[in-house]
Amino acid sequence: MLKHMKNNCNLNITLIGDPVLAQKACPVLEITSGETQALIDKMFDTMHSEKGVGLAAPQVNESKQIITINAEGQKFVFINPKITNQSEDMILFTEGCLSVPGKELQIIRHKKVTVQYIDRDGEPCILKAREFLAIVCQHEIDHINGILMTDRYEQQEELRKTLNIT
Ligand code: NI
Repeated sequence: MLKHMKNNCNLNITLIGDPVLAQKACPVLEITSGETQALIDKMFDTMHSEKGVGLAAPQVNESKQIITINAEGQKFVFINPKITNQSEDMILFTEGCLSVPGKELQIIRHKKVTVQYIDRDGEPCILKAREFLAIVCQHEIDHINGILMTDRYEQQEELRKTLNIT
């Protein structure tokens, strides 16, 4: 049935090694356009069917600053997001990524972050996130900046030694 076919248009996930994942994504200007809105809907469908809690547009081969999140019962669409504040307190969490299948890595993140973004209606918003939601925000905003959790893991080698994390 047509109604069900609409929910079936999942996008392919780009995998580590794909150049789109290493690029800084472009800011989105036409936020309320049909094209952008359709991409957001497809990203939510794809994220839900892949059982992800966050998805960034480069992971569906679109080099655009768009992120969908469904975590702790809250849904967000971040367009052109920026972290404007971050705690000195750090948190260690075992992360996974749809673009790095089968791999889990212990990544050190800020415990709290403030994210400035535009929502899908074009409204400027500010989110103060902590702990798990803050981790998801940092992981997804990294994607927008061409950084994968594997890059973070490599960068944090010395920090892990200092903190005695094996
Ligand atoms: Ni990821």
